[in-house]
Amino acid sequence: MLTKEQIAGQIKHCLTGTNFTNLGKRYEGKVRDNYIQEGRRILITTDRLSAFDRVIALIPFKGQVLNALSRFWFENTKDIVGNHVLEYPDPNVVVGEECAPLAVEMVVRGYITGSTTTSAWYNYQKGVRSFCGNFLPEGLKKDQKFDHPILTPTTKAGHGGHDESLAPEELIKRGHITKEDWDKLAEISLKLFARGQEVAAKQGIILVDTKYEFGKNKKGEIVLIDEIHTPDSSRFWKTATYQEKFEKGEDQDNINKEYLRLWLSEKGFLGDGEIPAIPDDVKVETARRYIEAYELITGQTFEGTEGDPLPRIEANLKKYIS
Ligand SMILES: Nc1ncnc2c1ncn2[C@@H]1O[C@H](COP(=O)(O)OP(=O)(O)O)[C@@H](O)[C@H]1O
Ligand SMILES: [Mg+2]
Repeated sequence: MLTKEQIAGQIKHCLTGTNFTNLGKRYEGKVRDNYIQEGRRILITTDRLSAFDRVIALIPFKGQVLNALSRFWFENTKDIVGNHVLEYPDPNVVVGEECAPLAVEMVVRGYITGSTTTSAWYNYQKGVRSFCGNFLPEGLKKDQKFDHPILTPTTKAGHGGHDESLAPEELIKRGHITKEDWDKLAEISLKLFARGQEVAAKQGIILVDTKYEFGKNKKGEIVLIDEIHTPDSSRFWKTATYQEKFEKGEDQDNINKEYLRLWLSEKGFLGDGEIPAIPDDVKVETARRYIEAYELITGQTFEGTEGDPLPRIEANLKKYIS
């Protein structure tokens, strides 16, 4: 594991964004800078952290962690479903096959939890018992495991929009997805989640919930795009402390975005208004958790590349520059 000093030293080199003018059509997502070329998409994972649908902070090494962890999972799930990956030319970059995205985000939840207004726990507490077409029994406690993982799909909102949770029947009726594609995505998503839970469990980690995005490639096949089982798209808890904390009603040991979300909410920030200034030690601790997630899940040491990432990325992308 990198030392706290190494992590702190990288704060000045955080990758805010890129602005290549000769790399293709640029699209700036919340976390990734996308450059679209004929048949492919260059995804540069920056160090931006998004929460509450806004960019909140820059976290050192975050882009590299996400890219490396996605790589681990893409390689460990390709027997279940193909993915968009063509090449990893840089620690922050993946080149993917350009796909036609399916307009649904596949959220899978193994436990009832969360703090935001879209979370299953928030809704359950408010009395909701039918959640995106799933019936939730009486008497569930926060962080309790569901009998079976549930699918709670959302629409894919465009730039700046908020996703909307809907039952599958409604997604189909409103034309977001066909019945045939839904059935395939449902089956694949549950298989991916089962694999994720199985691999994580061997490492003493619980994959709590996650979100997948799919697209169709040139051949019309459904493939996994974007990212998979990262601390941005997923919640992870530690198995060793789960039961005790669950029984005591305490917050779980999480290794995901929840740390910064909780810190922000303690400062009174719930998504609207000015973002509180985030001190360096909070950024370092956030980074430490991202790195810890990588190391615990993969069982490998995180080889973070230190220094200014921009010139390195430019050099590594040379063959894609026209
Ligand atoms: N292979 C692909 N083909 C087409 N679109 C993709 C592919 N991989 C990822 N995307 C899209 O690229 C964007 C990645 O950038 P990101 O920062 O995650 O954006 P967002 O703010 O929309 O989440 C997402 O909109 C994602 O759906
Ligand atoms: Mg995204």
